[in-house]
Amino acid sequence: MSHNTQAINKTRQNLSEFEEIWLFGYGSLIYKVDFPILDQSQAYIQGWTRRFWQGSHDHRGTPEKPGRVLTLINAPDEICHGMAYRVSHEVFDHLDHREKNGYLRFETDLVFNSKKTIKGLVYIAPEDNDAFLGPASEQQIAQHIFNSKGPSGENKEYVLKLAKALRQLNLVDSHVFAIETWLNQFETETQNN
Ligand code: BEZ
Repeated sequence: MSHNTQAINKTRQNLSEFEEIWLFGYGSLIYKVDFPILDQSQAYIQGWTRRFWQGSHDHRGTPEKPGRVLTLINAPDEICHGMAYRVSHEVFDHLDHREKNGYLRFETDLVFNSKKTIKGLVYIAPEDNDAFLGPASEQQIAQHIFNSKGPSGENKEYVLKLAKALRQLNLVDSHVFAIETWLNQFETETQNN
């Protein structure tokens, strides 16, 4: 699959059929809300887990030296906690452009803290997209992130901002926090050399 998914996403859902549009954020959408929202609430989705397995050619890396950013990976026994935003359909022009590097919009059930469940949307970069990098050890992923930067800034900033935002929401993600710990260690080692 081509890694520019902007045009494909336009054809994926008929947003006018949604009574309300709720978008689930699990990564940069948690700490960078650069679009108008009508409401927001913590929520989770079932059967998915965060992994820094997607290459970033346009934000935290370049086509020659991609960074590593999040996607969601199927994990039947896991729950991914994040933030759900109620939005109007106009925001998708902006978001489909922002997340065009391999991410497709999928429909999913969002579960709110009240246990109310509603159909929503989530951007996921599937394994068959051209920018997908796949697994590596958390130390290797952190080393890669430590050495990457792109038009949106240093790749490590993505991880550090997300980890901080998750803590502010009282959320725990062992993968994100392990990579944050490695990044802090690399930073200390760099300063001591
Ligand atoms: C998110 O935060 O939900 C998100 C992460 C990566 C790409 C698109 C959206």
